[in-house]
Amino acid sequence: MNSIEVKMAALLQEKIGLDPNVIGIREISRVLERHRVACNCSSLETYFHYLQTNKAEFEALIESVVVPETWFFRDGEPFNFLVRYINTEKLFHQTDKIKILSVPCASGEEPYSIAITLLEAGFKPHQFQIDAVDISQKSLQKAQRGVYTRHSFRGNYLEFRERYFLPITTTEYQLIDSVKNCVNFSMENLINFGFLSNKNPYHIIFCRNVLIYFDSPLQAKVLQIFHFGLAKAGYLFLGRSESVSQAEQLFSPVDLRERLFHKTGESLQPHPITPLVIAKTPAQRRDRKIDLLLAGLIEHFDLTAVLCDLAGNIQHTAGAVDRYLQFPVG
Ligand SMILES: C[S@@+](CC[C@H](N)C(=O)[O-])C[C@H]1O[C@@H](n2cnc3c(N)ncnc32)[C@H](O)[C@@H]1O
Repeated sequence: MNSIEVKMAALLQEKIGLDPNVIGIREISRVLERHRVACNCSSLETYFHYLQTNKAEFEALIESVVVPETWFFRDGEPFNFLVRYINTEKLFHQTDKIKILSVPCASGEEPYSIAITLLEAGFKPHQFQIDAVDISQKSLQKAQRGVYTRHSFRGNYLEFRERYFLPITTTEYQLIDSVKNCVNFSMENLINFGFLSNKNPYHIIFCRNVLIYFDSPLQAKVLQIFHFGLAKAGYLFLGRSESVSQAEQLFSPVDLRERLFHKTGESLQPHPITPLVIAKTPAQRRDRKIDLLLAGLIEHFDLTAVLCDLAGNIQHTAGAVDRYLQFPVG
């Protein structure tokens, strides 16, 4: 990567949090080159200046680097938990409206799965509020349109599609209005400290499959923003390969396999905090590309895996290894 590419990757990281090492230096170079050509810029330097003065092009570049992968009822269990939680915590005795945030929501499959879950459990739309945010305008437009293809419906549990979608072509399904109307979409950048400052606290935040694209200090910052944005003892769902290890003082685990955490203590106005320095267990020694590959495998096969070298030494771990193995301290 030459110095101008490094500068542009740093700009992307500063603005949207994307760690260039996660997505891959080569991939970023390829995207930058494609945009340079499309904008008729003679060199990457010219494109860099153009990018800094042209908001629309910067947004277009963001669309090219974000990963909008999502589907209905991804990972399953968080949605089952939601109903158990609302019922067992008797939330309705404490509030007349349950507030849930889906961030990032990508093209809407996650917040709509939350809405369907609550409707199926017998809740009325006036009893809950679902806010859903993402940085990608393109994904948000798709979410608001509510038209999905087979790619959004994975796994075996698909009966909900018959109940809540109307087939509009042989490959497309339109979400019905009564579910669409349950979700409020908006465009937000979740790495901004102010992101949740003017909102009433949420009872539950779903933040799945985006922290993996951020470096450790940024993960610490985002977790602090969520701590601030959650109601007392509120819940945070992370993705299957994410953790609160950068802000363990703010959250305690409820279910490690499902990556469900409980807010601890009181809300404080977010401010920069130093991430915890933690010992490097095998789980943290992974390189980021292997991390992403394993995350994809866990997603696909719902597995827990330990990768060993020929001598039997653990090189990488994935999934809820802590349920089966204990690593010696030191
Ligand atoms: C892999 S999707 C996750 C969607 C959903 N939560 C799920 O787990 O299925 C990641 C999303 O993060 C969004 N994203 C990336 N950086 C962001 C930021 N700084 N602020 C808000 N959204 C962001 C992307 O636009 C993309 O839609």
